[in-house]
Amino acid sequence: MKYRRLGKSGLRVSEIGLGSWMTYGSATAEETSNACISKAFDLGINFFDTSNSYIGAEQVLGNALKAYPRSSYVLATKVYFPQGEGPNDRGLSRKHIMEQCDASLKRLGTEYIDLYQCHRFDNETPIEETLRALDDLTSQGKILYSGVSEWSASQIENASSLGKTLNLRPLISNQPIYNLFERYIEKENVIKQCELEGIGLIVFSPLAQGILTGKYKPGHAIPQDSRAANNETNGVINSYLREDVLNCTVKLEELAAELGVTLSQFALAWVLRQPNVSSAIIGSSRPTQIEENIKAIDLNITADVLSRVEEILSAVHNFAPMR
Ligand SMILES: NC(=O)c1ccc[n+]([C@@H]2O[C@H](COP(=O)([O-])OP(=O)(O)OC[C@H]3O[C@@H](n4cnc5c(N)ncnc54)[C@H](OP(=O)(O)O)[C@@H]3O)[C@@H](O)[C@H]2O)c1
Repeated sequence: MKYRRLGKSGLRVSEIGLGSWMTYGSATAEETSNACISKAFDLGINFFDTSNSYIGAEQVLGNALKAYPRSSYVLATKVYFPQGEGPNDRGLSRKHIMEQCDASLKRLGTEYIDLYQCHRFDNETPIEETLRALDDLTSQGKILYSGVSEWSASQIENASSLGKTLNLRPLISNQPIYNLFERYIEKENVIKQCELEGIGLIVFSPLAQGILTGKYKPGHAIPQDSRAANNETNGVINSYLREDVLNCTVKLEELAAELGVTLSQFALAWVLRQPNVSSAIIGSSRPTQIEENIKAIDLNITADVLSRVEEILSAVHNFAPMR
């Protein structure tokens, strides 16, 4: 495994991280979840991501990681999405952040969270209130670092500048979606702004939920035991399953084969070509997927291959199911 600094911070995270959305605590049986988490750890993955909104995931991840010394992994969770019907059961107010941090610590069964992330931007809470709450949690030792997820370049710029004015600890990470099909962070200046602020990117759905593994073939039935075959998990992935997208994955898979790698390894190496991407967080429903995917870290993608990728991708238009 290789490790990169998370932005300007001293924290080092594995180039491949393991997430828990729509898998651990939900679609994936607990025994298999535990096998995936221990496989990831054994292969050198030290970055584990979850959220208070991934039902059941914090407990499963926290339990599985108890097998290892607390200092040997970086545990990240998030706050923002509704946790109840009450007017204060959501968002990034001081009240909700403080209460949810305690609830996450309990579910994770740990004394501190390494990276606490604002899952989305909250338009209804002054940013100063949110930043001060995160800074206070750090002073209390409940979290070590804070970050955000899916914030725009201007939201990141404003928060970083206010944090400096108020002399608060800086945000160190942003977690956006990024894969061969979903590239708004390139176009909307998010990568550049984060780099400027010393904020590292931890990108999610780097395999487009499995589409970029090549297992969904145009004209073929959806494989059983896949995210797309399960009505509880296929809400978003179904919008990826377009003919032009799948035709494109066939061509990308051929290109990957020329380089001696699988499509999933190629897709992960493609996001990791960006120096400010600190980690690509994969999901996995079985340990063998992790074994295959981590080999991505050894692949360097040349400029010539990058331009062939652009040519292949030019056949896909108007694509943004997650935005
Ligand atoms: N911040 C946010 O708003 C946000 C949003 C979404 C996700 N996330 C984070 O990012 C993590 C990853 O997201 P994701 O699950 O969408 O990532 P992904 O890596 O794009 O997709 C993961 C899924 O692809 C399939 N897969 C992976 N490797 C494979 C392989 N080698 N061969 C065949 N199939 C393979 C598996 O699904 P099946 O085997 O079930 O088909 C796996 O669960 C989440 O767990 C979460 O921690 C964050």
